[in-house]
Amino acid sequence: MSRRIDLDRLLRPCVKSLKPYSSARDEYTGGKSGMVFLDANENPFDNGVNRYPDPHQKELKAKISEIKGVPSANIFLGNGSDEVLDLLFRAFCEPGTDNCISLPPTYGMYKVLSGINNVENREVLLRSDFQPDKPGIEKMTDANTKLLFLCSPNNPTGNLMNPDVILELLENFNGLVVIDEAYIDFSTSESWSKQLPKYKNLVVTQTLSKAYGLAGIRLGMCFASKEIIEVLNRIKPPYNVNELSQQRALSALSNRNQYENEKNSIIREKNRLLKQLLQIKYVKDIFPSEANFFLVRVDDADKRYAQLISHRIVVRNRGNQPLCKNTLRITVGTWEENDFLIKALQTI
Ligand SMILES: Cc1ncc(COP(=O)(O)O)c(C=O)c1O
Repeated sequence: MSRRIDLDRLLRPCVKSLKPYSSARDEYTGGKSGMVFLDANENPFDNGVNRYPDPHQKELKAKISEIKGVPSANIFLGNGSDEVLDLLFRAFCEPGTDNCISLPPTYGMYKVLSGINNVENREVLLRSDFQPDKPGIEKMTDANTKLLFLCSPNNPTGNLMNPDVILELLENFNGLVVIDEAYIDFSTSESWSKQLPKYKNLVVTQTLSKAYGLAGIRLGMCFASKEIIEVLNRIKPPYNVNELSQQRALSALSNRNQYENEKNSIIREKNRLLKQLLQIKYVKDIFPSEANFFLVRVDDADKRYAQLISHRIVVRNRGNQPLCKNTLRITVGTWEENDFLIKALQTI
């Protein structure tokens, strides 16, 4: 049995009745060869980027579909996954009326985007083991709760969310369950996108910003039911993924060796870094991580952060986040960078 949803109930009325912008590249979709394009007020002189990009990124989606095992009709691409998250608010949350739930300590943009969209963000703290508090989430949910954000592996804690709890939420939550898998490529766990046929209320986001090494091109992915993808396509800016990003993404995704080599090197370095961090006497705790960073508890995060800066090393001080007192989030770097970090940590 698959879980159905009433998309009509979840959608904002203005989005339901929206007639989307039809771009020049939407109207004529025939072949390019031998055609003269005088339909989009572009500069005709060819420099590689004088034409608007494919608004539906067909070639790139076909490649992503092949790699991720998700049909193209279930894929939406955005200007980073941040854009995807923003569009979810704009599609489903009526400003001033609807609400979403996020589970701190977690990725800060859920809260920022809810603020930008004037949508109440109901925060349900993770439990002390950094797992979702299911009864707490249920207590906070009402008829206007449209989105629930689960970040797995979670940023900044690095852990996976318990799959049994995620399943229960998918079975029972009456809005969309958004699973942010920005760090899934570093994890041993398989993507929740495999569950899309079963759960129509599931939305999975991923990104090329982390393991694929393409944070600069801003390419975020969303996997969801065809109906949800269709909604996102209706409200997105027509050319939201630019031509250069589409080209770079396609070429990186076609070069699997480089991706595998870099990812394996990061994972090797992560294991090495863990052993070294354990030797530092003011490191009190290193939380298990399925991502490319560690959340590390130290004796005094403000002091150690400042000392690292004086050694020209920037980490993220997460000490002001709930449950994260005196923690630093440290990204795994190259061999040389990690060595530099360890030497600095030993010196200070
Ligand atoms: C959990 C999580 N989601 C999303 C993002 C943003 O991804 P993108 O670069 O695709 O916008 C980040 C970036 O740090 C992140 O940590």
